[in-house]
Amino acid sequence: MYNLLKGKRGIIFGALDENSIAWKVAERAHEERASFVLTNAPVAMRMGAIKELAKKTNSEIIPADATSMDDLNNLVEKSMEILGGKIDFVLHSIGMSVNVRKGLPYTNPNYKYTEKGWDVSALSFHKVMNVLYNKDAMNEWGSIVALTYMAAQRVFPDYNDMADNKAYLESIARSFGYFFGVDKKVRVNTISQSPTWTTAGSGVKGFEGFFNYAEKMSPLGNATALECADYTISLFSDLTKKVTLQNLFHDGGFSNMGVSQAVMEKFIEE
Ligand SMILES: NC(=O)c1ccc[n+]([C@@H]2O[C@H](COP(=O)([O-])OP(=O)(O)OC[C@H]3O[C@@H](n4cnc5c(N)ncnc54)[C@H](O)[C@@H]3O)[C@@H](O)[C@H]2O)c1
Repeated sequence: MYNLLKGKRGIIFGALDENSIAWKVAERAHEERASFVLTNAPVAMRMGAIKELAKKTNSEIIPADATSMDDLNNLVEKSMEILGGKIDFVLHSIGMSVNVRKGLPYTNPNYKYTEKGWDVSALSFHKVMNVLYNKDAMNEWGSIVALTYMAAQRVFPDYNDMADNKAYLESIARSFGYFFGVDKKVRVNTISQSPTWTTAGSGVKGFEGFFNYAEKMSPLGNATALECADYTISLFSDLTKKVTLQNLFHDGGFSNMGVSQAVMEKFIEE
């Protein structure tokens, strides 16, 4: 390991179980010698797995519903107390669609569910940055990253309303990133990750097909959760100080492909 985050303090949202991308980021951040607070929705705490991660990474847990400004204010204040200063990096690794969970089609959702999913998956990123910005809680040259998916740009029908949530999330990264850059010298980016076997990922209808198709289309194959964590660490480190307002594809090349030989072979009749 490289001591890339030595002396840095962070907040990591979204580690649910050992498959979570945020879980891998926490493990890697610990290896790179960061100190951080873990947070997740109070309901996710009941599953208990996060306690294991906290023990392993020598970190504390502060529950917070990322849609609640009260919870977020408490989280940021307590994190600075526990960590002993301002924050250097934040990972937003949160996604949930009630319409997907309930199996409702994109063409006829329950709009209350749509609003809830948007609040959790997209607006929460704005709320997190609002609290960090207005409490002046970020150190200069800090880094804020959220995770996203390419359905924000291209059509993946079964990704349902999460596609719209991700488009909104990516736009928030640019819009808030402007103010964070000018006023605080903090960078804000999204990483657009390959399909990954996690609780949120495998909740998407037909995920196996999705995953296998991307694997065959990508020159380097799908990026794993651990590889995503490595990339995220590089964005938290001082090696990427002038990267901001970007949506960065971390997908083995998938996003620039038209067709691959491996996929074409499936369509050539003998
Ligand atoms: N798995 C994939 O295929 C894939 C691909 C690209 C991007 N992503 C994105 O990566 C991120 C992490 O997802 P993951 O795949 O690791 O799945 P995951 O299910 O492990 O993580 C999602 C997290 O969101 C948390 N969450 C839900 N509601 C919340 C709330 N109100 N407040 C706080 N936290 C809340 C969950 O408790 C969970 O920890 C998500 O933004 C997801 O959309 C995933």
